[in-house]
Amino acid sequence: MKTKVTKAIFPVAGLGTRFLPATKSIPKEIMTLVDRPLIQYAIDEARAAGIKEFIFVTSRGKGALEDYFDINPMLEQTLRKSGKDALLDTLKTTNMESGAIAYIRQHKALGLGHAVWCARRLIANEPFAVILPDDVIAAEKPVLQQMVEAYEQTGGAMVAAMEVPPEKASAYGVLDVEEDMGDLVKVRGMVEKPARETAPSNLAVIGRYILTPNVMANISKMKSGAGGEIQLTDAIAEEINQDRGVYGFRFRGQRFDCGSKAGYLQAMVAFGMARDDLRDEFTAYLEEMVSVRKAAQ
Ligand code: G1P
Repeated sequence: MKTKVTKAIFPVAGLGTRFLPATKSIPKEIMTLVDRPLIQYAIDEARAAGIKEFIFVTSRGKGALEDYFDINPMLEQTLRKSGKDALLDTLKTTNMESGAIAYIRQHKALGLGHAVWCARRLIANEPFAVILPDDVIAAEKPVLQQMVEAYEQTGGAMVAAMEVPPEKASAYGVLDVEEDMGDLVKVRGMVEKPARETAPSNLAVIGRYILTPNVMANISKMKSGAGGEIQLTDAIAEEINQDRGVYGFRFRGQRFDCGSKAGYLQAMVAFGMARDDLRDEFTAYLEEMVSVRKAAQ
């Protein structure tokens, strides 16, 4: 089996109900942090990790995502005519090599495992990455790249992992740790959305995965898991006692849960403050807001 990871699946079929009414007519993955859509961050991270084939698992109403990664000749012509070269350069990051991107529809919302499985024919017999664009991670070295490097040492299946407050663990897939090696942990169990009293730890799965084709085969059993959905976590857990097993990878970076309003707003602030062209004005405004609030208390 090929070991180099060159394919990535982006599950983007979700309805984004937490962001209604905005998501009534735009996919949540098109929502921006400053001026770049969430999906752009995910694609850039994948590219940095050496991914060459990008597989989107979409659903009805996600056409804007396809348009986003297409060339827009009229827009480019207008920008060229008016000499807006910097903007033309910005647009280049949204253009994909022909044939590098594929769209598959998930016809029924049966869970994350099922969404990933919809891409099985494009994955064939190769290891692959999965990126959940809701989880935006600011990092000096992009997280999937960190994981690909670690995976070269371990093989097997790997999930990004992060300690979360114990009371929040039930919102995640949670790892049961067999051996803690610092950045890497060897996993002996994983549970999707455990009840608070039964969570094996507070080490949560975050939306970056490197998986083997075996995981696809496991999903094919279509076992119903937490919330009555076909869970990716369960299919990965089946690999624990196989071959090279399953690893958690404690990444270096700051993760934002852009699937929640609070997390999205925090990301907006962090990415705004990180921008050279906005930092001074934006930070001054935030400081003013904070001092006004303190004075009012
Ligand atoms: C999904 C996964 C879960 C993981 C989480 C990370 O859950 O099923 O294991 O911990 O992403 O963001 P969701 O957030 O879609 O409920």
